[in-house]
Amino acid sequence: MVRSLRDRTPFRDMPADIPFLIFRKTLMPSNWTPTSWKNFVAAQQPKYEDSAELEMVLHQMRRLPPLVTSWEVDRLQEQIAQAQDGNAWLLQGGDCAESFEDCQAEPIASKLKVLLQMSLAILFGARCRIIRVGRMAGQYAKPRSSDWEKQGDISLPCYRGDLINQSDFSPAARRADPSRMLRGYERSALTLNFVRALSEGGFADLHHPDNWNLVFVAESEEAPRYQKLLASLGHAINFMETVLQMPANELKRVDFFTSHEALLLDYETALTRPSVRGVGYYNFATHMPWIGERTRALDGAHVEYFRGIRNPVAVKIGPSVTTDELLELIHRLNPENTPGKLTLIHRMGNKNIAAKLPPLVEAVTKAKKRVLWVCDPMHGNTIGTAHGRKTRKFEDIVGELKQSFAIHRERASRLGGVHLELTGENVTECIGGSSGLTESDLESAYQTQLDPRLNYEQAMEIAFDISEELAIIHGKPGIG
Ligand code: PEP
Ligand code: CO
Repeated sequence: MVRSLRDRTPFRDMPADIPFLIFRKTLMPSNWTPTSWKNFVAAQQPKYEDSAELEMVLHQMRRLPPLVTSWEVDRLQEQIAQAQDGNAWLLQGGDCAESFEDCQAEPIASKLKVLLQMSLAILFGARCRIIRVGRMAGQYAKPRSSDWEKQGDISLPCYRGDLINQSDFSPAARRADPSRMLRGYERSALTLNFVRALSEGGFADLHHPDNWNLVFVAESEEAPRYQKLLASLGHAINFMETVLQMPANELKRVDFFTSHEALLLDYETALTRPSVRGVGYYNFATHMPWIGERTRALDGAHVEYFRGIRNPVAVKIGPSVTTDELLELIHRLNPENTPGKLTLIHRMGNKNIAAKLPPLVEAVTKAKKRVLWVCDPMHGNTIGTAHGRKTRKFEDIVGELKQSFAIHRERASRLGGVHLELTGENVTECIGGSSGLTESDLESAYQTQLDPRLNYEQAMEIAFDISEELAIIHGKPGIG
């Protein structure tokens, strides 16, 4: 006789639906469904004029395959848990906003190259696994400070990112067009496909970092430092293989994860599904979604949506957050205090961090909450130039980062990662750094639609600084 699975469970004497109720209860928070956020106020959402058109798009999206798998997502969560224990370090970076136009080989590969080079530099100081997470393959929706943009006498809905509308200033371009969600899904899939292929194949082989050279790097101020790093790479590989006991073939490929601000809830919900393993709902659009500073309201729709998904999640916190609010956020997003589940990305600004961060760190430590602390030194340091450009001073970015390391260290806490806006292109968007970019240089290669990004040199300089900070913590010499 073939016994059914039911017969073999400890619940076999119970009525048919009871085991499943017990099962569901432990896997899903109470009163949560992938659409329960609709009962809450959702900030920063576009207004779609035609609900039938929206529903048609969402219906198509719900049938499309997931972009990531639950196994990958769980692996990232395990690695974040290691980072919480000081055995890994998180490097998260990419564009402020990806654009559909830039879904091309060159910009994608360049971004990957910078992140790989940076992770190598950081690895020297950290002496532990570097978790690489791109703001990539889905970073298409942006929160804005105003719903409207005015030019002359004309007011139009603001540009909210390519997932929603277009940046040109015309009524047609600014219409919230649901079909752009499908285009965004497709471009995310194309980007991810390319990133996965590069990460798996010879490109990412640590024995051949020459694959990651960028055309303009030879003239870069950071080139000698990177060359020095490459020269000592042989020792590092030896170190990784022998001391960290990483098998040689692990160094021939890299893990690369994706993340984006899960802002447009209709889009995220269409890709939120139960896992085939029956272990709850995952957001299959990305490995690590985050909640932005502007949508983290405790009674808002984003926190409601995030509390039910199984992915490791992050939340950005700015200078206005209070300790009570933060402890409640932590409780809602990670009620079981699960290792690896929650990352807090603080973005206080170089001026505010000394006053704002310490009480938060102390309260979280006292409450024994497991979080990964990550510093975003970009978003609290955005300023406007006389010419109406947005920029960031490199010294403020480095200043905030260094203060973060010190604040955590002095409180027996640990800065476990960094969150940066950067590009592999040779842009001039942030001022300062070793090549001394000034405000007047901004005009030469200012390409961002939204926030100013670090260019290659600036990103590498930060990576070397991080490496040195981490080397000090470990009492080991850096690569200086
Ligand atoms: C961003 O990461 O681009 C962003 C808008 O950040 P924040 O939510 O921290 O303002
Ligand atoms: Co930004």
